[in-house]
Amino acid sequence: MENKEFEMLLESISEKQVQIPVDFSEQDYFEILLDELLCTKINRFSLYLRLSKEKFIKIVEKGQAIDTGQLERLRSKKVQYVYMAREDFCKYAFASTQLQKTIIESRLPNEEKAEFIRHTAQILLQYNFERMITPEIYTTISTGLAKHLNLLLSNQSFFLHLNKLLQNNSKLYGHSLAVTVIMKAIALELKWTSPKTFALIFEAGIFHDIGLARIPKEILEQNLEFLNEKEQQLLRMHPKNGAAMLRRLKIVPEACLQATLYHHELCNGAGYPEGIARSKIHPVAKLIAIADYYCHHYQPTSWNSSVIKGQSEDHHQVFAQLQADQVGNFDRDFVDALGRVLKVKSKASNRK
Ligand SMILES: [Fe+2]
Ligand SMILES: [Fe+2]
Repeated sequence: MENKEFEMLLESISEKQVQIPVDFSEQDYFEILLDELLCTKINRFSLYLRLSKEKFIKIVEKGQAIDTGQLERLRSKKVQYVYMAREDFCKYAFASTQLQKTIIESRLPNEEKAEFIRHTAQILLQYNFERMITPEIYTTISTGLAKHLNLLLSNQSFFLHLNKLLQNNSKLYGHSLAVTVIMKAIALELKWTSPKTFALIFEAGIFHDIGLARIPKEILEQNLEFLNEKEQQLLRMHPKNGAAMLRRLKIVPEACLQATLYHHELCNGAGYPEGIARSKIHPVAKLIAIADYYCHHYQPTSWNSSVIKGQSEDHHQVFAQLQADQVGNFDRDFVDALGRVLKVKSKASNRK
């Protein structure tokens, strides 16, 4: 992606405007999907490749002209991500957020606006989830992103955006946004349209797994089956920890705390942390539960073809599995509504 306004904006950002937070975690590098990198003719940021867990090498020097051939070669080698050091990523996140305002007000087609919103949202969430959650971060995310979410739900491009988010489903930022998009689609199908409900769905969806932000990455990146009992116990504490983290901010609505705390409860009482059933579970928690299942079970047969074309066959397989295996776990009305969403969106994307 290349954008003149982005270039001008970066020029205008002085070091003074960008405050590097002192409470940053030890994370030094942040990822960006190579295909979505916003680059200018002269690169403003050094770019790195990840060789192993701890090892990164610089491939593009800050201040040099971008070698588009080099980026093409990386693509042809199936490199998905490039990395920025945290100070550069901080500036990149700031510039993207500023540019978002211009893009939204521009005459660009909605499809391009939606692409940009998705990119900015992922950057912002990745950046913020690495830091200790604060009232300011909570407010920035919940007010700054929520109003643009509808752009990701338009019928024709629904699967395309969802698939791109699911590509990063193992990362907290991609997963949270994918869950939120599915929740919002189900809610619209159920005619839950009040602004208050929409705000709650957005906040609960984005922050439902915030308790995972403090769990070591080695545990998060492991397949569940390979975790020992202690690690599994730690993982299962994330709803309680997340609700406690959000409660400490003193600005999060009680309903959002309830939804976070109970998002792994199941209608038949077989969930955690408390094993409560059906009517005792907050409706938004039940909404998260089904969207969460969906995201964790979606594995496209081929990322390249599915992501690019936004195909929906894989989605129907996941839904069939959800219907067959999970009787009693989820709210029946929500399951039916999700089925209708997939049908409507599939028809729309086939019409393209
Ligand atoms: Fe969770
Ligand atoms: Fe989740």
